[in-house]
Amino acid sequence: MKTTTKIEFQNTFEKEVYEGLTAFPKRLSSKWFYDKKGDKLFQKIMELPEYYLTSCEYNIIEKHQEEIAKLFDEPQGFDLVELGAGDGKKTKILLEKFYEENLDFTYRPIDISASVLEELEESIQEKWPQLDIQTEQGMYFDVLKKLGNRDTARKMVIMVLGSNIGNLTHPQAIDFLVNIRKSMQPEDLLFMGLDQKKDPQQILNAYNDTQEITAEFNKNILRRINTELDSNFNTEAFKHWPVYDPETGTAKSFLVSTTQQKVTLKKLNIEVNFAPWESIHTEISQKYDDDVVQWLAQEAGLEITAQFSDTQKQFTDYAFKRKAE
Ligand SMILES: C[S@@+](CC[C@H](N)C(=O)[O-])C[C@H]1O[C@@H](n2cnc3c(N)ncnc32)[C@H](O)[C@@H]1O
Repeated sequence: MKTTTKIEFQNTFEKEVYEGLTAFPKRLSSKWFYDKKGDKLFQKIMELPEYYLTSCEYNIIEKHQEEIAKLFDEPQGFDLVELGAGDGKKTKILLEKFYEENLDFTYRPIDISASVLEELEESIQEKWPQLDIQTEQGMYFDVLKKLGNRDTARKMVIMVLGSNIGNLTHPQAIDFLVNIRKSMQPEDLLFMGLDQKKDPQQILNAYNDTQEITAEFNKNILRRINTELDSNFNTEAFKHWPVYDPETGTAKSFLVSTTQQKVTLKKLNIEVNFAPWESIHTEISQKYDDDVVQWLAQEAGLEITAQFSDTQKQFTDYAFKRKAE
């Protein structure tokens, strides 16, 4: 008779690492990139000349801050809920504008990384001590459940910058958007930045910078597993490997084992074998066009009410409302 032992995991990180490294093909979710070191590496990535996403969206928000502020504003005030806020580099342009215009608003940044939220809260309290800020550490899907149960009649603006949704496959993205729609009242708004399809070389370069910061960022997931799960990954024995498929608009990153190796994860009580050139899929960064965004919105019961792009249409920020039923 076959007996199955149920493994007790302390948290989602342990569970997902176990499932991902015992699966075939192997996978790890990009949301685990972001510990203290990962946050710092991502901030370095945002400064890289190849990583056009940040500068594009920064310029869009800077140029259209007046219209965006008008879109968000409401006589009774509004609550700005930002999912995957990171260091808030671009959001701060808007906060400054809201202050200038004397708008009545609160700011609720949400992120899986406790360290990035701490840093964000500190920098905001220093610059705008009166700002009503309430940070929340958690994963998108857990936090979205809570948002649906809020007991305020104020307008809610949910903001997702930096093409964060691109880390989800289309079915996951629809699920994410459906959950957002469920938490929205008719007057609420979703404001979301999405990276657009463009020259495949430019996209590939964004995930393969010459200073190899993105490679370090990708390998940080192994370093994190070493620290938190008492394992012995040799990061030197893995190669950072990004690819881009212009047909689907999907950029993917892998870590490829350059040799046959065995890794022990003491905390999970497992040994993981790698064949030479075996991969771990670590990230997807989906690229979009207007048709795909329309389709996603339609599937999730949302409609696009405004959009802002740079002149070359490299990146677009869309505003969505709940579609009338
Ligand atoms: C690519 S960064 C973008 C940060 C910011 N939105 C920007 O545009 O600069 C993604 C951010 O989302 C957070 N994040 C990733 N996956 C998440 C998840 N499943 N739930 C909550 N936060 C997540 C990360 O910690 C990180 O701060």
